[in-house]
Amino acid sequence: MLIYDERMRVFSGMQPSGQLHLGNYFGSMKPNREMIAQSEQSIFFIADLHALTTVQDAERLAALRCDALIDYLAAGFDPEKAIIFYQSQVPAHTELMWILATLTPMGLLERAVSYKDKVEKGISASVGLFTYPVLMAADILLYDANIVPVGKDQKQHVEIARDLAIKFNSAFGQTFVVPEPRIQEEIAVVPGVDGQKMSKSYGNTIPLFGAEKEVQKAIMGIKTDSRGATDPKDPETCTIFQLHRLFLDAKDAEALAEEYRAGLSYGDAKKKLFAVYLEHFGAMRTKREELATNPKLIEQIAREGAAKASVIASATLERAKKACGLS
Ligand code: ADP
Ligand code: TRP
Repeated sequence: MLIYDERMRVFSGMQPSGQLHLGNYFGSMKPNREMIAQSEQSIFFIADLHALTTVQDAERLAALRCDALIDYLAAGFDPEKAIIFYQSQVPAHTELMWILATLTPMGLLERAVSYKDKVEKGISASVGLFTYPVLMAADILLYDANIVPVGKDQKQHVEIARDLAIKFNSAFGQTFVVPEPRIQEEIAVVPGVDGQKMSKSYGNTIPLFGAEKEVQKAIMGIKTDSRGATDPKDPETCTIFQLHRLFLDAKDAEALAEEYRAGLSYGDAKKKLFAVYLEHFGAMRTKREELATNPKLIEQIAREGAAKASVIASATLERAKKACGLS
């Protein structure tokens, strides 16, 4: 478990980018949920304005952000404990972005690897995509966040937010808290059904909230070596075991490893994994189904979250405007 100073304000966001999988859950949602439980105040948002750089289909974007909110609520993010909101419902983000953009050297953004990666992948090189890190800096700086937990791919973006906070503070006086990225190095990479890193882009995922049949099919399709049914198996190199251990404590994982070494068949190992999946996610899956039938409630949670976020964001924006002569 990750330990954080509980007086810290933790802030993070995610782009709503489609069906979540076990890699997202164990690599990001679960540790973030634990961090929220430990911190005095947590703010978590769905980056729908960022998503607009790649999703230009109104119905799809509306569905994606709503699905993302439902997923997070079902996975135990409690709106009473953390502020959860849609980015586009707090206009201070785009306003602060402009102010920061006027201080952002072109070279800083030209060096951003994620922009280059996305353009290489065929995403159109819009001004929005190029200035993505400036909007992200505004997201972070508005909430005086001390800690920003992100995956490795987002580290450079948090460093850009740090650079811009320092630059603004030295140009206009102390205004922003300088944020720290918190890279979750200790979190293991969750393998997909083919043994590579589980990722939407590799088509090797086990969905978190997919239909039961779909999940079962994915688990039964996990690639294994050609050892016979009763042969001893090597848990360390077996993808089924690597996935199953995510659900267990060290003692139970060792007991399971022993069963593999004693010749548990891959078929039975997959059945055990499916059973533990259903047991672990059963209540969350039921909650998700219930939430999905109540779009009014989801909308209300988003609006209440945005109202709470706006109180903090507007105060910071005012401070920044005053500092640079716009108040
Ligand atoms: P994908 O690779 O499926 O597009 P994202 O990049 O949207 O996933 O991931 C969102 C977050 O989920 C990442 O910041 C990372 O922390 C976590 N994550 C994704 N895949 C994995 C994985 N296979 N193992 C561990 N964590 C993962
Ligand atoms: N760029 C992040 C991602 O793709 C999402 C994001 C936007 C974010 N603004 C943020 C994450 C601020 C942390 C803090 O995952």
